[in-house]
Amino acid sequence: MPDKDTDNTVNDKDTQDFTPEMNPPDRDLPAPEGELVGSTGFLRRFLDTPADNTAKTVIVALGLCLVASMVVSAAAVSLRPLQERNAALDKQVNIVEVAGLYEDGVDVAEAFEAFEPHVLELASGEFTDEFDPYEFDDRAAAADLTLSAPLEDDPASIRRQANYVTIYLLRNEDGSLDKVILPVYGYGLWSTLYGFIAVEEDGNTIYGLQFYEHAETPGLGAEVDNPRWKSLWRDKLLRTEDGEGELAITVAKTPPPEGREYHVDALSGATLTSRGVDNLVRFWMSERGFEPFLERVRAGEI
Ligand SMILES: Cc1cc2nc3c(=O)[nH]c(=O)nc-3n(C[C@H](O)[C@H](O)[C@H](O)COP(=O)(O)O)c2cc1C
Repeated sequence: MPDKDTDNTVNDKDTQDFTPEMNPPDRDLPAPEGELVGSTGFLRRFLDTPADNTAKTVIVALGLCLVASMVVSAAAVSLRPLQERNAALDKQVNIVEVAGLYEDGVDVAEAFEAFEPHVLELASGEFTDEFDPYEFDDRAAAADLTLSAPLEDDPASIRRQANYVTIYLLRNEDGSLDKVILPVYGYGLWSTLYGFIAVEEDGNTIYGLQFYEHAETPGLGAEVDNPRWKSLWRDKLLRTEDGEGELAITVAKTPPPEGREYHVDALSGATLTSRGVDNLVRFWMSERGFEPFLERVRAGEI
């Protein structure tokens, strides 16, 4: 028979006799030297708290939110340069495409080198050396109070207009002008549409119109990206009388009296986006937009 006083084995009866009211024996022992009494004690107590405790639920939820927001912020910050590079590349693709130089497998960066960027002063239609065309940020300029002016009559719904914009020239091998690529933007139904219009060397014939950014509804307003609709713009004329007359280009359900050469069919089921495109194209092709520059193109000065 083992001696009852010296027997250290734990029998079933010992465990059954332990009740939650009794402190486990090591709870009251002093922590070993160097142990973080406060934090581990708090952690232990927190972990021992029942899962349905409201405070514990709130703390866990807040902790998860904090970790998730840190992960999302870190991802957003680290991916921003990549996003900016992709946005710049997308813009280049559009410039190459609106000028008719894009085909599957083309090296866009290489094709883009064919274009000659210039910062244009809209009011005079003259190029300026004040800004580097490779660095100039058109959108930042439109928001800069010193580089833009508010619009009272604002058909394109852009509120402010920059005094300077970046345009691109495409030249033939002999150095003569082939096309000018002009940035245009304005409000549709849900969003601002950003794009480019390519005009032939005569300063009056449209080669193409293409948007690279908008948030119109897929299947309705977003049909501005439909190649069939885009093809309607080819060879349309901006102005009557070889460019010296009225601004006549229009996007409408029915052709204007001037004739079909100035008319692009509105998108069916997307009259409001079509009206936005009509407004923005007419605004940017007017005297307040690129007309001073197009006048110089028509005069053969570029
Ligand atoms: C969910 C929803 C999204 C729409 N998105 C557009 C749009 O992007 N562009 C547009 O012009 N009309 C859009 N519309 C339709 C317009 O409200 C309006 O009915 C249409 O522009 C009229 O065009 P229609 O005269 O050619 O039918 C949308 C309608 C709904 C219900």
